[in-house]
Amino acid sequence: MPLMETLVKPVALKTKLCAERVDMVFHRDTKTTEVLNDINLEVSDGEFVCLLGPSGCGKSTLLSIMAGFLTPTSGHIRIDGEVVRGPDPRRIFVFQERGVFPWLTVEGNIGFGLFRLPRPEREQRIAYYVKMVGLQGFEKTYPPELSGGMKQRLEVARALAVNPDMLFLDEPFGALDSITRLIMRGELLRIWEAERKTIIFVTHDIDEAVQLADRVVVMSARPASVQQIVSIDIPHPRDISSPRYLELRDGIFKQIGLAHRV
Ligand SMILES: Nc1ncnc2c1ncn2[C@@H]1O[C@H](COP(=O)(O)OP(=O)(O)OP(=O)(O)O)[C@@H](O)[C@H]1O
Ligand SMILES: [Mg+2]
Repeated sequence: MPLMETLVKPVALKTKLCAERVDMVFHRDTKTTEVLNDINLEVSDGEFVCLLGPSGCGKSTLLSIMAGFLTPTSGHIRIDGEVVRGPDPRRIFVFQERGVFPWLTVEGNIGFGLFRLPRPEREQRIAYYVKMVGLQGFEKTYPPELSGGMKQRLEVARALAVNPDMLFLDEPFGALDSITRLIMRGELLRIWEAERKTIIFVTHDIDEAVQLADRVVVMSARPASVQQIVSIDIPHPRDISSPRYLELRDGIFKQIGLAHRV
């Protein structure tokens, strides 16, 4: 084989996470809720995947199963080839409902997972993330005195500061205004491009998914299955007015039964 062909041959990407025939049924009293139906998905190491679907379809449930907080009714999740049996400190989960520690200051929250680092390094890292999410001047403030959006930024900073192997983000920018959302998306992409963490990001915002992801996993209504997987083959930074962007976004709108019109 000519040398050039050998050189340009794409390297097979390592699978980081694999969902194999995952079903989830909740039983409460006499009520049975079938939430996930035969979910199969492979996520490569360093990939940014968005799970997109209508409210109540089971996105948070699937993310919790992937992160080991819930056990599926059948099927399983593998990470690095091992079946997931519970949460792991190398994988960070940012919850849809805000999960900052109210009894710790902004600094305390960001530094929470960094207790093993020498003090100067810990302080440097805290200062870096405080700045990244625009919370300078609030280092000594406690979460009840922060706005909803500030708490959300704090939670993202806390997750990123521990340098996790994988990030599970459940609508992390949901409570932010549209300008802060755009800034946070940009920051998240910048960090992801620099550090190539594997990210699974739940959203019900089509634009958010198409702006961020390598692939968008479109889920059906409950019981959710994978309806379609859309590869977003546009390099970052993405031009959101480019014909390809609009084509991919409109394709997803059609897929979920919505024409993109108001
Ligand atoms: N612990 C539980 N016990 C019983 N039912 C549950 C439980 N957790 C979730 N459900 C049900 O599972 C379904 C999916 O919930 P889930 O939170 O995963 O949806 P979602 O796609 O994340 O919705 P949203 O976009 O509104 O956050 C809902 O009908 C919900 O009532
Ligand atoms: Mg949810």
